[in-house]
Amino acid sequence: MLKIARKTAKILLPKTTVYYIKRQLQEKRFQKYAQEKLELNYRSVDPGPVPPKELIAKTAALNEQELDKQSNNNVYFETGYLEILRLFQILEHFSINLRTIGSIYELGCGTARLLRHFRCIEGVRLVGSDVNPKMIEWCQKNLPEIEFYHNELKPPLGFAQDDSFDLMLASSVFTHIPLDTQELWLAEMQRILRPGGIFICSVLGKFHASTLLGTRQLQELETKGSFTLTSEDSNATYSTRLGGSGWDVIQTRAEIIRVFGSYFQMIDYIPGVQDFLVLRKPNPAVSVVMNTVPFPAQKF
Ligand SMILES: C[S@@+](CC[C@H](N)C(=O)[O-])C[C@H]1O[C@@H](n2cnc3c(N)ncnc32)[C@H](O)[C@@H]1O
Repeated sequence: MLKIARKTAKILLPKTTVYYIKRQLQEKRFQKYAQEKLELNYRSVDPGPVPPKELIAKTAALNEQELDKQSNNNVYFETGYLEILRLFQILEHFSINLRTIGSIYELGCGTARLLRHFRCIEGVRLVGSDVNPKMIEWCQKNLPEIEFYHNELKPPLGFAQDDSFDLMLASSVFTHIPLDTQELWLAEMQRILRPGGIFICSVLGKFHASTLLGTRQLQELETKGSFTLTSEDSNATYSTRLGGSGWDVIQTRAEIIRVFGSYFQMIDYIPGVQDFLVLRKPNPAVSVVMNTVPFPAQKF
């Protein structure tokens, strides 16, 4: 019944109204969840401003048709709330209590579409960095409670001490890091994560292989374990063609497990539009048994 009502509303109402309603629903769902889990450690925060369209185009658009939608204020917040709620649920699933997280770092934070929502954890230290100086300038001006730094295409991250973060995130970033620097970045992420800390990271797997690649390219992917589209390729994502990054990096599941599993303990590999990896830096001083029940795959 609810499904039919939703479908009818989608047909009858103007798009902007649908976007508004969806944002309100997601925002409430996220806030209710965060409040319940964090209790006295929950802080109600204003989500902050929406970045200009040209910055959104470089971070979010898979194709031209999507850009108008993605740069609508309500869609920008709806996707942020939806994804941050899923991240919170992933953490809970693997028994990571949000109240035990004191510091969070996001590599490739873009316009802090996700990072800004972690401000609801009272007293948490939030740090974001990005290779694009325009994103960082915008974030520094508009989200003063968070530390933002510009980083180079290759590590090191000069601002980050060894073992300094409890939780790290790279959403839709390793998807754009060229293969010759992928392992350098994994080693750097391992350096700055504290022992026992969790790193959640997305990669382009099966869904993007079938969406972006042609038959020959798929064959090469299977043989080599990876395929890279550059910003010159007509089938690269729109944001990459616009110069948001130089590359779309697609890898097979086996290759991802081989490479990422050499630097971290792999807790889960969650399939979806982008596949999400839940990675842990082992702590030899503390023995922890992690939940091994897989987190549900993303439906698309
Ligand atoms: C698709 S966007 C995702 C932005 C953000 N994580 C989000 O979910 O909204 C990819 C971001 O990664 C950044 N990026 C790409 N390569 C990077 C690197 N080597 N170091 C830091 N940031 C990088 C890009 O500038 C861009 O802001």
